[in-house]
Amino acid sequence: MTTAELLSRIRLNGAVPRHVAIIMDGNGRWARERLMPRPFGHRSGMKAVREVVEGAIEAGIEVLSLFAFSQENWQRPMTEVSALMSLLEEYIAREADELEEKGVRVRMLGDLERLTPPAAAAVDRVMSQTAHNDKLTLNLFISYGSRAEILRATQSIAADVAAGRLTAAEVTEEEFEKRLFTAGCPDPDLLIRTSGEQRISNFMLWQLAYTELFISPVLWPDFGRHQLYEAVADYQARERRFGRVSA
Ligand code: FPP
Repeated sequence: MTTAELLSRIRLNGAVPRHVAIIMDGNGRWARERLMPRPFGHRSGMKAVREVVEGAIEAGIEVLSLFAFSQENWQRPMTEVSALMSLLEEYIAREADELEEKGVRVRMLGDLERLTPPAAAAVDRVMSQTAHNDKLTLNLFISYGSRAEILRATQSIAADVAAGRLTAAEVTEEEFEKRLFTAGCPDPDLLIRTSGEQRISNFMLWQLAYTELFISPVLWPDFGRHQLYEAVADYQARERRFGRVSA
């Protein structure tokens, strides 16, 4: 099936997932297969990001969440960390205006205080430039770890309870969610992980409670619209029960 045929099929099927999250994995292996250094794989991964963002808009997905850099990634060799930081700046410099034109609202989620000052400035710029858009929300998770996010929310709740602003009984799921980076976003309907790995890797542990999982064998730099639509078509064939029985 061609990509265009796949797209019309998922549109006809109805119920396109509102929120798709992706763990973009396999850049290093993609580079190694070509006897190239790892940052070469990340650079090609950036092109895949562009393609998948366009594909998400065409399919009518409302929120696209991409795991770009984990807290654990800070422990990679310095050269790779700086290459990733520069790529982030480059991505924003090259894409910000086009994202703005396409109606994409960009949000960066994570411990952004650890970013280098130029990367942090670029992040601030693109978030304010696109804040008013509503066609697609692009959540880029940078310096993100889900356990740290949950702890941060818990500390904020504890501080409010200690100060008498909140009672223990008022600590509901809704109250908790307001304090996560994803506040205001629906939970992901579909999580895609590329390169065949079958792990969650500290990504959106709270938000993924009822999310459908799709593992693609494709390495991230080779992932594009077509693979995105295949995952969506697979999702549409599933029955989501949220812990209940079938209707
Ligand atoms: C995982 O592959 C990928 C990353 C750690 C970085 C993801 C970054 C990009 C896709 C490019 C930058 C994107 C933006 C938006 C600036 P890996 O290195 O763990 O691959 P491996 O498992 O094969 O070693």
